[in-house]
Amino acid sequence: MTKRPIIAPSILASDFARLGEECRAIEAAGADWVHIDVMDGHFVPNITIGPDVVKALKPHVSIPFDVHLMIAPADPYVEAFAKAGADLISVHPESGPHLNRTLKLIRSLGCKAGVVFNPSTSPSVIEWMMDEIDLILVMSINPGFGGQSFMTSQLAKIRKLREMIDASGRDIHLEVDGGVTPQTAPLCLEAGATALVAGTAVFKGGPDAYAANIAALRGA
Ligand code: DX5
Ligand code: ZN
Repeated sequence: MTKRPIIAPSILASDFARLGEECRAIEAAGADWVHIDVMDGHFVPNITIGPDVVKALKPHVSIPFDVHLMIAPADPYVEAFAKAGADLISVHPESGPHLNRTLKLIRSLGCKAGVVFNPSTSPSVIEWMMDEIDLILVMSINPGFGGQSFMTSQLAKIRKLREMIDASGRDIHLEVDGGVTPQTAPLCLEAGATALVAGTAVFKGGPDAYAANIAALRGA
């Protein structure tokens, strides 16, 4: 991979009492997307951010909002997140019975559609849907919490999905989420990832460190 990787800081690791400032700070520090982790305490064992918070953050930055839905069902809330300012919306196949319908719904609202792979999810779930997908998000942890260790078992999956994307001839983002650090980022990029989510590795050290933290993830 020679292209500059997209860096998407996960605001899950930011100071929730200062979310607007935190979003402005990561944009100023060179972030490409804001990664927003939406959890419902049902699909994953944690509760985080709803559409009203996304809407409140939207005027603070101009970089795209990469919204990762960890909720079930997802369909009834997709429109609210789209209207709140999501640019990319990703869903887990396990969150509903009709992944294809959900992806069409996301695109019909003018957003880019993503599919998220839990560590146990097989690449085959998207085999017949490569034309309906703009983003693939590979979880290198079990979703629900930041600060977990990167699962190297997922590198082979990233490679497999890279092959599937290349065979499709489509320009689909391949993003990795969970335990991404300056140590694990090169492994992801070497396996074919084009975008990296990082919470802990971006927000550690506070605002003065964000630019250096983001640069370190890019391998600078
Ligand atoms: C977990 C979230 C991740 C999380 C990553 O369910 O999807 O985006 O914030 O956190 P770190 O980078 O700390 O592993
Ligand atoms: Zn995430």
